[in-house]
Amino acid sequence: MRVAILGHGVVGGGVSRILLSEKKAATLAAICTLDPKKDSLYSEYPDFFRPFEEVLSDSSIDIVVETIGGTGIALDMVQKSLRAKKNVVTANKEMIAKHFSELQDLAKENGVSLLFEASVGGGIPMLSAIEHGLVGDKIQKVEGILNGTTNYILTKMEREGVDFKTVLQEAQDLGYAEADPTADVEGFDALYKLVILIALIFQKEIPFDQVSRQGITALKSCDFEYARRFGSSIKLAALAERTEEGIAAEVSPVLFSNKNPLSNVHGVLNAVLLVGKYNTVGNFLSGEGAGRFPTAAAIASNVIDIAQGGHSLSYSLEPSSPLSFKNRSYYLRFFVKDCSGIVGKIGTLFGKYGISLDAVDQIRGQEGNIHFAITTFSASSKDFQKAMEEIKTCDFHSEEPLVLPIISG
Ligand code: HSE
Repeated sequence: MRVAILGHGVVGGGVSRILLSEKKAATLAAICTLDPKKDSLYSEYPDFFRPFEEVLSDSSIDIVVETIGGTGIALDMVQKSLRAKKNVVTANKEMIAKHFSELQDLAKENGVSLLFEASVGGGIPMLSAIEHGLVGDKIQKVEGILNGTTNYILTKMEREGVDFKTVLQEAQDLGYAEADPTADVEGFDALYKLVILIALIFQKEIPFDQVSRQGITALKSCDFEYARRFGSSIKLAALAERTEEGIAAEVSPVLFSNKNPLSNVHGVLNAVLLVGKYNTVGNFLSGEGAGRFPTAAAIASNVIDIAQGGHSLSYSLEPSSPLSFKNRSYYLRFFVKDCSGIVGKIGTLFGKYGISLDAVDQIRGQEGNIHFAITTFSASSKDFQKAMEEIKTCDFHSEEPLVLPIISG
């Protein structure tokens, strides 16, 4: 089968190099990029560089690989490719999270496949595990670390005790974080990936903007020290769970207790824990979630799959609103003014709503900037919110308190 690649940057360039070096069932036939003459493959393979319109009308091209990203021109090119009866392979999580049903229908109508393994977890065959390896089970719960940039930042903050801004700058200098880091640090990237997992696992179409999302910008270096003392590690988690009422979903920094394998996923790695109705301990998959060749290899796997006879995804998604998680334990960190009776007041307000405190901790020897942390036993999230509303109105705060869920093993 013959392959065209749309976009020839980090990932697209990785795909062309894999297709050129491995003699497999798919061969490179075309590359569509804005400025061919500046491309490093141009001098050796000038004939590969062709306009998109030519690729569309070339009936010898069977598979289009989209590596442009976003939902502008990439979406338009993917729609045109499917209408031209070309199979499409993409790593574009935002496009799949926002347009999965529509694109899947278009692929079906035209008798071609639309595959997107690289869109979630980069090089980890997460979607293939869900679609094939675990299809006989009924997955009940997903806990994932799906964004490498934030995991790199959080790992550095935890290990080196440095603040968020310093690590972000370092990550940008090293090319791990984008110049505009919003999609990563505010949790949008992880959210798109979670929405795709929810579609494949639970067959639900969840509007991404209805899912509760909290990024990592409010975390302070003291949070990592408190988490360590509570036997946990802070990670940006993508969470979803099947409940009797529907699918609970959330993207948030959480404290994973050291019993949970996700607490040990460091640096740019991604991982997911898939807990089944039958596989109750859960399957833990981990590996490189981003980067040129891991992502390109996942794309190449979809390409080879199609070339070897392939398959089409066939999901009927039911529109559904995400729910919030009902019962959880919480970590709270307070920055306060120097006055008396604060912990007593917080304990009394939690007691009023039946919420029991597990631990109270304070790093000693602070001057001026006084902070302390509290953890709760499992509590109803509704009662917890009511207690927090009252606690937030107290006059001892010097900053907005931080609230994170705690997830045990
Ligand atoms: N920005 C993403 C990350 C790239 O950091 O994981 C892979 O989707």
